[in-house]
Amino acid sequence: MPLKAELHCHIEGAAAPELVIRQAQKYGKDTSPYIQDGSFVWHDFTSFLAAYDFSSDLFRTEEDYARLADHYLTSLARDGAIYSEIFTSPDHAGKAGLSPRAYTDALGEGMARAKAKTGIEGRMIVTGVRNAGVESIEQAARFAARCGHPLVTGFGVAGDERMGDLEDYVRAFEIAREAGLGITVHAGELMGWESVKAALDHIRPARIGHGVRAIENPELVGRIADEGVVLECCPSSNIALKVFDSFADHPFPALLAAGCKVTLNSDDPPYFRTSLKREYDIAAEHFSMNDKALAALTRTAIDAAFVDRKTKAMLLGRLDVKGR
Ligand code: ADE
Ligand code: ZN
Repeated sequence: MPLKAELHCHIEGAAAPELVIRQAQKYGKDTSPYIQDGSFVWHDFTSFLAAYDFSSDLFRTEEDYARLADHYLTSLARDGAIYSEIFTSPDHAGKAGLSPRAYTDALGEGMARAKAKTGIEGRMIVTGVRNAGVESIEQAARFAARCGHPLVTGFGVAGDERMGDLEDYVRAFEIAREAGLGITVHAGELMGWESVKAALDHIRPARIGHGVRAIENPELVGRIADEGVVLECCPSSNIALKVFDSFADHPFPALLAAGCKVTLNSDDPPYFRTSLKREYDIAAEHFSMNDKALAALTRTAIDAAFVDRKTKAMLLGRLDVKGR
């Protein structure tokens, strides 16, 4: 089994249905509109976000979030992951009644618990939510820039790509960049190549969340390869959300062949009936990748990780030992 690393997973979206049901019982909520027969129910991006927001609202205390992060990172480690970056959302935590700092400290506590059990390294990328508006995104950036939490190493924007304009978020990203945070932005998932180009032009990210619809413009694919921008690809998410019809139509192999730096990620695993392990299995089965090629993807992810040099060298060392 190749060692794995993940750069793109929304922590609220990593809560399994059983855990969400337990939280709902704790807070006296009815899950039946959103969870049926043990699975999340939704049919398009808007209803996916509704189920996601409903579930997020059931994580309200520091212990709820610590347990969620511990749960997720421990399960990742059991599947062979040595590194995990989670997207955090102070906006969701705020709606559930927790301050950004209490939320971030709690997630950090959960990550520390998982690391103590399994050795998995983790970092947090604070995200602003596009559908929450520019002011909320700038607030998230200001928090990320000043929070000083040692595990907060990046800033990103997620949410409904069909809303707002990337140019509107330039200031938020500048706040984060000036604070030394790594930059990633969701683009080219629900919207086409123009959105990826706008991200490169206006935001200048080190990484793009998804970015896969760059495939619609070969010149742009060349630019991504030349500039070394890393794509956080999430194949099962893309199929579930009907960005592409099937794995056979997914551009992952074409982007890799064109020289783009691609990585494998689960996005919101239980919503898309996946896991990081399953993404690696899918790459083996549908993209004809052998263990050596999969190990190279893990190396790309670690190279692109928003983590200090010493930790990165340690993680790369673990890959070298395994590869020998
Ligand atoms: N937030 C959680 N999952 C997301 C996705 N796939 N795209 C955009 N925002 C998200
Ligand atoms: Zn995402």
